[in-house]
Amino acid sequence: MSECEHAVRRSEAYAQFNHHDQRRSVDTWLTLFDDLRRRCPIGRSTFHDGFWAVTGYAEAQHVLQNPELFSSSSVMIPPHSQGGPMVPLEIDPPEHAGYRTLLGKAFAPTLAPDRHRQSIRDAVNAMIDDAVEQGDFDACQVFAGPLPSFIATAVMGLPAEDAGLLQGWIHKIIHEAAIRPEAAVEAATEHHEYFSAQFARRREATAAGSEGDDVLTILLNSEVDGARLGEEELLGFCLLLLLASIDTTQKTIGSIFYHLAVEPGIREQLGRNPAGIPRAVEEFLRMWAPVQTSRIATAEAEVAGHRLQPGEPVLVSLLAANRDPGEFTSAGEFHANRSPNRHLAFGAHIHRCPGSHIARLELRILLEEVMRRIPDFELRDESAVEWTPGQTQGVTRVPLRLRPSTVPPDEAAHSSSASR
Ligand code: HEM
Repeated sequence: MSECEHAVRRSEAYAQFNHHDQRRSVDTWLTLFDDLRRRCPIGRSTFHDGFWAVTGYAEAQHVLQNPELFSSSSVMIPPHSQGGPMVPLEIDPPEHAGYRTLLGKAFAPTLAPDRHRQSIRDAVNAMIDDAVEQGDFDACQVFAGPLPSFIATAVMGLPAEDAGLLQGWIHKIIHEAAIRPEAAVEAATEHHEYFSAQFARRREATAAGSEGDDVLTILLNSEVDGARLGEEELLGFCLLLLLASIDTTQKTIGSIFYHLAVEPGIREQLGRNPAGIPRAVEEFLRMWAPVQTSRIATAEAEVAGHRLQPGEPVLVSLLAANRDPGEFTSAGEFHANRSPNRHLAFGAHIHRCPGSHIARLELRILLEEVMRRIPDFELRDESAVEWTPGQTQGVTRVPLRLRPSTVPPDEAAHSSSASR
């Protein structure tokens, strides 16, 4: 094939790439990303009024590490309709730094790992009890759905019983926006009313000198560039925290269970060596990075020989970048001890995920307890596994069956106070 024919085939493949395409098979998406990257680490899609898609590791890093050339002013393709920018994700330098300092301050006390270790372990054990009781269960319903919203309540200082509310809003805002926009608007309104009431309560507590040290109280009482945050900014912060923490972790957990089900050797390895779980978590994050973020080119820029024009949107697929054989040997294979493992699952540079510590803690405890109590399970029906595409992507349905050997009689009546 001539170089010219190669170029045409390359551009055709990218031209037809739509990250919101509703294909639900895991393999379809993994094969597509590999195929695109093999052709070229960047290409131009004709969907959503046209955008560039980056699938190569070096190119993804280049885009994320140069905020002056690639603005975060809109991290969604097509742009979302939440009103203002999502703070601080859609804020560029120099303003971004002030918000980020505030976020660091807000997260420092509440993200101290010891503060949540026990409650996460208890929550995971209650979910395992549920799985044991069901025998046949969907790991996304039992674990991936409830765990991240439970943790969001803990981090934000909200009542644990409100976790279901948060999860419902996020589902409507992210997944129903395209099919039932009115449901997404309704959910955003309920979210705003709920958090307005939470802030009002904390204002009263602060006035009475009995304020707590949860994220909401700290956001309320902090200043950025000498000014307190306005109500809209506060509510925008809360929405971003929920979007950023719940959906990402849900997709990651679903994908991890899928991978554990189809590759039993990993379960055996982790069961034999629980000390290897933190490294394994990094490898899962590399292979299943849920986020595809985006940027807007601010000036003419060259990426892998392609000339981008100012104003053009650029989608960065972190999953595709993390499977680039140019950076990772045997990139399509799981290596529990991979080192170095400079994956981009949490992004890079100024917007790098400030929740990575809590996300890692959550995933580690989940794997520790699952490997300890229910290490042996299988996929009930491969054809029922579902991938949800989009800017957070991953496995969202994974029907499993516990093998009898995995549920010793004393475990069925487990008490979550066992071995910590
Ligand atoms: C497995 C779970 C998670 C993954 C894979 C993930 C991934 C990411 C990525 C890739 C970014 C950067 C996006 C960009 O550059 O455009 C980001 C930003 C962010 N994440 Fe996470 N995240 C996770 C969990 C969390 C959690 C648990 C929290 C909060 C408790 C959180 C809060 C945030 C916030 C606030 C930002 C915006 C930071 C900024 O703009 O400076 N994330 N996350």
